[in-house]
Amino acid sequence: MSCAFDLLLRNAVIFDGTGAARHHGDIALSGGVIAAVGSLEADDAATTVDLRGRAVAPGFIDVHTHDDRLLLADPSMAPKASQGVTTVVVGNCGISLAPLGDRPAVPPINLVADGEAQRFDSFADYFARLAIEPAAVNCAALVGHTTLRVVTMADLGRPADAGEIARMRTLVEEALAAGAIGVSTGTFYAPAAAATADEIRQVCAPLAGTGALIASHIRDEGARVLESMTEAMSVARALGVRQVISHHKVVGKANFGRSRETLALLDDARIDTDVCLDCYPYPASSTVLRADSVAQAGRTLVAWSKSRPEAAGRYLDELAAERDTSIDALIAELQPAGAIYFAMDEADVERILAYPETMIGSDGLPHDVFPHPRLWGAFPRVLGHYARSRGLFSLETAIHKMTGLPAARFGLAGRGVIAPGAAADLVIFDPDRIRDTATFARPKQPAAGIDAVYVNGVAVWRDGQPTGRRPGVVLRRAEGAD
Ligand code: ZN
Ligand code: CU
Repeated sequence: MSCAFDLLLRNAVIFDGTGAARHHGDIALSGGVIAAVGSLEADDAATTVDLRGRAVAPGFIDVHTHDDRLLLADPSMAPKASQGVTTVVVGNCGISLAPLGDRPAVPPINLVADGEAQRFDSFADYFARLAIEPAAVNCAALVGHTTLRVVTMADLGRPADAGEIARMRTLVEEALAAGAIGVSTGTFYAPAAAATADEIRQVCAPLAGTGALIASHIRDEGARVLESMTEAMSVARALGVRQVISHHKVVGKANFGRSRETLALLDDARIDTDVCLDCYPYPASSTVLRADSVAQAGRTLVAWSKSRPEAAGRYLDELAAERDTSIDALIAELQPAGAIYFAMDEADVERILAYPETMIGSDGLPHDVFPHPRLWGAFPRVLGHYARSRGLFSLETAIHKMTGLPAARFGLAGRGVIAPGAAADLVIFDPDRIRDTATFARPKQPAAGIDAVYVNGVAVWRDGQPTGRRPGVVLRRAEGAD
């Protein structure tokens, strides 16, 4: 006798991803999709699991990642699967592995690309490799504008000329045709700092009318945060394209509290433009080591150093005192390097997280020796610390910010909700116990309170371990979707 369902999850508390109130019920899976939700018969399934009141939510969508190479280097995707993440959006902050090819991985591209391995000339090649060597979780990809500059320009210190813009635009068209979901920019970083809004608008012109989006790491998140948001928003507005302001924050003590101004600016912009944002739930940032970021931070923790590997996990001020050297000399000595900057106000972090259009993105840096704890802890921290302990919003709202909302904004059809016909990307957890355990002192710790994680109907994480299964697929932009 053949069964109607592969798996029946009974007695679940269902958070459906829409933000609606939790309800009790059963969920049936069949062929990688959710076949039915409601009060279902046990003898219709090949396998039945009684969840005894455990919670089930759509798998979390990490909208801001630098997992381009991790998908291939560690397909178990343990830092993400352990948090209940079932889809990652790669290629953020202007840096993508494709179509970098054999070009030099100038900082910050060295956050994702390393050596000769896992280089791709095109998104078609990158996606083809992911089909042959799938990861445990799904991915969707953005084209990095900084990567395009490195590929097309000999001198990164000036705006692109007409010929270079035309070549970048062709590469954007190729990436969109392969299934990329948009373009990311990173004018904060040296290789794209000379790019004008006009250059970016012309490079992104192929996005218009396709449903693809622009994700912007703006030029300055400090004193000039409002001007930088306005500049970035002018590009998307001119093209009529949806925009995500990446890892929104205000940095530097002089700017503490200014999320009131930035969110008011977004409220105004949202009257006639389609702009939203992502945020990670910590008052510290992390990227390559740079003197201006150190100057803005209360303290700086070294995440990695190629020239002084032993510095990873140490605070810059302690190292400088120990070696009797200046901070500036130490920054030069550690290069190339990455760091964690304590430069934000907790009240700003909470205000931005609570904004209705804010999605959760980890911004985790998976190749760092001593990574920011957001890599392993971002999603359970929102659920445990910010929703349950701080009461910043309900668990229903928190889950919506990591499921239904990002699926809608990033155009990931059939994801992010528990409903018949949706993909069977699911996380089973204890709503009273789920929490992050990764800290700035011990950053590589899996979440507590997560029982199992399913991707396309296949368990990829169970009882604190990867299962070894790799059911992840590339989620391509639905043509003309919006
Ligand atoms: Zn960024
Ligand atoms: Cu980033």
